[in-house]
Amino acid sequence: MKNFINLKDIPVNDLKKILIDAKRRKKLRKKLNNLEADKGAPLKGKLLVQMFEKSSLRTRLSFYLAIKQLGGSTLTLRPDELHLSKGGESIQDTAKILSNFGNAFMLRTDNDLKLEEFKKYLSIPIINGLSPSSHPTQILSDIFTVEEIKKKSISKLNIAWIGDSNNVLNSLIAASIKFSFKLRIGCPIKYKPNKKIMRYIKINKNKIIIINDPKKAVKGADAIFSDKVISMNDKVNKIKKLNQFKKFKINKELMSFAKKDCIFLHCLPRGKEVEDNVFLSRQSKVWQQALNRVHVQKSILLYCFGKLR
Ligand code: CP
Ligand code: NVA
Repeated sequence: MKNFINLKDIPVNDLKKILIDAKRRKKLRKKLNNLEADKGAPLKGKLLVQMFEKSSLRTRLSFYLAIKQLGGSTLTLRPDELHLSKGGESIQDTAKILSNFGNAFMLRTDNDLKLEEFKKYLSIPIINGLSPSSHPTQILSDIFTVEEIKKKSISKLNIAWIGDSNNVLNSLIAASIKFSFKLRIGCPIKYKPNKKIMRYIKINKNKIIIINDPKKAVKGADAIFSDKVISMNDKVNKIKKLNQFKKFKINKELMSFAKKDCIFLHCLPRGKEVEDNVFLSRQSKVWQQALNRVHVQKSILLYCFGKLR
């Protein structure tokens, strides 16, 4: 049994195995409908319990289809209906029940410590479906998408991030270190990654560059990633922050500074950080990116169950 909490703690060979499995499975089920199981239904009879402490559309749907396509089933819990948040039931007791009734637990949380706390008491795998500090299933899936489109290993590509230093970027930084790809981050100085992340970058002697100029940041990029300037539960002066990001808007002009065949990715939901003329253009691969979550999360589930071949 394995957990999937942060990319930085997972051996790169395991991450690569997940991507290889996802590629194979996606290819093999081309003719199957969404709810039809993969041949052999490797997680037949298994229950994935999901809990969302924050809103979700894509993660919820993609994990639903992921476990279904592996032959299992899912149940989504609302935290406001559990004793855990309302009646003060402990994480320890909740975890014991989850372990007795379910076979894996996917948690989207507003507090990183909860992932650690659940991990301590669960005897089933836990998967991080977004926390304040990371979004690992998203980024592993995004690497899959980039490699699928570019038909090259991500280690041979230049990746740019334009936007806030948030959970999604933290996972992208971890991926850049794990998979050794070049990453340039374009953001206002004030919003560069926090000290802990900067230290992590430094210790790993990585090729990550942080630039206060979006045009320089996307120069030579094969893929540009972005995300909302204001994340869920971001307790800031929203108007002020959006203003500080004004020159970091992704539009056609900015795209013209990247490689000609540069693609645009966004985990969604979007705000005003990208203009329609990019988001809805041929360079944008956001819908393919969202759908690939299903394929990669299937292989993440198999990894957690120790069933990855
Ligand atoms: N990208 C992503 O995680 O989307 P949701 O918040 O809708 O799950
Ligand atoms: N950074 C965003 C990602 C949403 C999928 C957030 O945390 O709200």
